[in-house]
Amino acid sequence: MGRKSTRTATTTRHFPAAVVAAAVLASVPASADAQEPTFAKDVAPIVQANCQICHRPGSIAPMSLTTYEAVKRYGPRIREKVAARVMPPWHIDRSVGIQEFKNDRALTDEELETFVSWIDGGMPFGDANDMPPPPTFPDRTAWQFAERFGAPDLVVRSEPYTLAAKTQDKWFRPEVETGLTEERWVRAIEIRPSYPDGRRIVHHALAYLVQEEDPDEMTVQSAATISSGSAMGGAGLFMEWAVGKVGEIFPDGAGKLMLPGSRIRWEVHMHAIGREVPDSYVELGIWFYPKDQIPQNRTRLRMFDARGRSGLDIPPGKVAVTQDFHVLRWPSRLENFQPHMHMRGKTMTMEAIYPDGRKQILSQVDNFQWNWHVNYIYADHAAPLLPAGTTLVITAWHDNTPENPNNPDHTQWVGWGDRTVDEMAHAWVDVTYLTEGQFADEIAKREAMAEENEGAERGRR
Ligand code: HEC
Repeated sequence: MGRKSTRTATTTRHFPAAVVAAAVLASVPASADAQEPTFAKDVAPIVQANCQICHRPGSIAPMSLTTYEAVKRYGPRIREKVAARVMPPWHIDRSVGIQEFKNDRALTDEELETFVSWIDGGMPFGDANDMPPPPTFPDRTAWQFAERFGAPDLVVRSEPYTLAAKTQDKWFRPEVETGLTEERWVRAIEIRPSYPDGRRIVHHALAYLVQEEDPDEMTVQSAATISSGSAMGGAGLFMEWAVGKVGEIFPDGAGKLMLPGSRIRWEVHMHAIGREVPDSYVELGIWFYPKDQIPQNRTRLRMFDARGRSGLDIPPGKVAVTQDFHVLRWPSRLENFQPHMHMRGKTMTMEAIYPDGRKQILSQVDNFQWNWHVNYIYADHAAPLLPAGTTLVITAWHDNTPENPNNPDHTQWVGWGDRTVDEMAHAWVDVTYLTEGQFADEIAKREAMAEENEGAERGRR
């Protein structure tokens, strides 16, 4: 069961980053008859579609890439980051595991090659008539989900906080009433730090939903989380936000439940930027299902630990591997994979051991960048469907050697802790618990889909 639905979807298009980078680095100038890529025709569309959302004035990146001159000026650095697949931020291993995501922003191998050979070829502008018109972008000060759902039904704002120009990392933990007087099911949530400076200082923010619930009601609909080796990720974790992330939209028929009298407890991790930032805050926008529409399934944000028995013991100059096991008590659909580590974090893998003993790697991030908390959101038809009794194995690799370019000091012992120079190892995963009946239905749907695809494939041959 579930074999087809969670089958690894590798295609010939996907090569490991290192292989592509090596191939590109080794490539000689394109043969004389091949068309040399130009900015106007080939590169501008890539930059518009994949870079400018962040690399434009007032956005989160340090420099704008909105003109030919700017892209040319940063050419060598762009080459380095693009060839290593650090930019755009999408650090998943493209050679293993599920590859279909709702928010994929990786360059294709062809785009990567075009970009790099354009830089190597002297960065010609080309013909101005080939330039695509400038794209329009969503308003940075607006809720990003508003286009789809309208204004949020509820906004919960933290108290303001003033961060000094120079200080160690700070954690701010205010608690705020939601003001809800009745039960509501949540369709979508979005977190945003205040604009513009809040976005520069907030590294990540957690919003916990604090509400009184009867822990005895252990049904699928109100599945309390039993998480081995983890105090967090309990009933209350609502959403995690980090640079590069917007929010979460739950699949039709699934959502989070908020109760009357609920409160939001924030945990905001900030770092100083060299000038005082007064009165910044974080906001949570919440969109509800209509009152007469009660979702059948409750989605839980779970923190799957990978600290293992050692609790993270990372010797200087060494690579440390840790692993934890989490048994799923109910049939489950996993909506996303979001590894969390810090500066020594290198790779994290999420693997399923099915009740029949079969093993499968669901996802692996092998090029982890600590300042990017990319949330890899599975496409609806690719989200893993796992029977009750499946064990999720989360494995983390921390590279404390000088080979790790993100390592600030390979002579230090590193252990678990809050600061970015300490380490962590867990994955945030939104789990939708299903009844046995729903699970069987979903599996049947996937199998029908797979057959249809195979049929279409045969038809083409
Ligand atoms: C989701 C937002 C986002 C996207 C998309 C993105 N960048 Fe970035 N980029 C950033 C941020 C933020 C930084 C600074 C932090 C860092 O280096 O991680 C950065 C850093 C860089 C740097 C390093 C700058 C330096 O100081 O050396 C380069 C080069 C770069 N980006 C190029 C690109 C290119 C080219 C693309 C598109 C192919 C792209 N980025 C897409 C957000 C983004």
